Amino acid sequence: MFRIGNMRRTASANEPGSVRGRVRSDPVLPSSCFLVIPILTSSSSFPFPHDIKGVLLAREIIQRLSTSMEYTKPPVDESLLFKMNDEDFTFIKALSGIEDVDALKKHIIAVQTKAYDLYGHMCIRRFSFTRPKISAFPMYEHALELGRNGILLDIGCCFGTDIRKCWSDGIPARNLIASDLRPGRMARLCLRMDIHFLIVFWNLGHELFQSTPDSFPVAFLAGDALDPNFLEPTMPPDSSSEVPDFVPPLSSLTSLTPLRGHVSVIHITAVFHLFFEPQQLQLARALAGLLSPAPGSLILGSHVGRRTKGFNERAIGSGGHHMFCHSPESWCELWEEVFPKGMIEVKAELKQRPEREESYDIGNLVWSVTRL
Ligand SMILES: C[S@@+](CC[C@H](N)C(=O)[O-])C[C@H]1O[C@@H](n2cnc3c(N)ncnc32)[C@H](O)[C@@H]1O
Repeated sequence: MFRIGNMRRTASANEPGSVRGRVRSDPVLPSSCFLVIPILTSSSSFPFPHDIKGVLLAREIIQRLSTSMEYTKPPVDESLLFKMNDEDFTFIKALSGIEDVDALKKHIIAVQTKAYDLYGHMCIRRFSFTRPKISAFPMYEHALELGRNGILLDIGCCFGTDIRKCWSDGIPARNLIASDLRPGRMARLCLRMDIHFLIVFWNLGHELFQSTPDSFPVAFLAGDALDPNFLEPTMPPDSSSEVPDFVPPLSSLTSLTPLRGHVSVIHITAVFHLFFEPQQLQLARALAGLLSPAPGSLILGSHVGRRTKGFNERAIGSGGHHMFCHSPESWCELWEEVFPKGMIEVKAELKQRPEREESYDIGNLVWSVTRL
């Protein structure tokens, strides 16, 4: 018996710990296509392709397989918002200008419903988009300092809550750039092309915070961070002599690749855990190429991790499969593989909720990578 999404399926797979299924009426894959995908294995020898095209295709297949098997996301639950205290709303209250807490809650729920319909990320279901996370990281003050004189990029920005926090804490809009998936792709993934084709999380961010591109003039670039045409994985530049002097204006960019070696701070929260292990490595390589070689340049973020590297078998992620989780040790090793020896300092800590029982090994991996 194996599990995909909320469905249990009996599978006569050839290999142990795998799921076998047929993709139905898919415009890209032939209908006869049979897939055997290891979902529940926690083995580190996960038989996944390591070349970029293979990884992209495998991801597409898994996402399509999970939708074709009718992965059902849990319904929105307004009570999760009502559990939050007034302090939790401080930031969104200040930026949106909606003072009345009840009116603010109504407003948040209305925007959340639209976003959750579009894609069932747990961070949307749990209303975590209402609070910035970046400001709780130990390196936040350093990130602000760097961002005042250099570029700060937020990858997988969703509503843009974190980049709004950086802006409200003094980083000029001209130094900030946010990026997330393009609308067509999101719509395709959740098969709601008819209703949601034109809705993007970034625009929902304007709705949530009651801003406009004039009142909040931060550049936004839509694209898939795993697509080499959008963000080409390159070796991290050794020194500033390898980086061209010219920095294109952020609002003129059509891909992230021209920012190679120019970004002083990269923030990425709740994104890495959406991908399997090889894709996480690919993304780390791509981010490393963007980072400025200046000492102190910083990549920081957080996502779901485990005490021991492997799949989180306690939960199904929004992609309809178990999450692959790094441990603090394997996360540090990953970055040490991405950058040449001695070029960076990596810090990673697994933070667990105090209410969890001792044996619970899933937590939030809070981490930073600093160029030396
Ligand atoms: C769980 S949300 C996290 C949002 C935000 N960073 C936060 O912490 O609240 C994950 C975000 O990553 C984006 N995302 C997923 N896959 C992506 C990809 N391949 N490239 C860029 N963004 C991606 C999603 O669209 C979504 O906005």
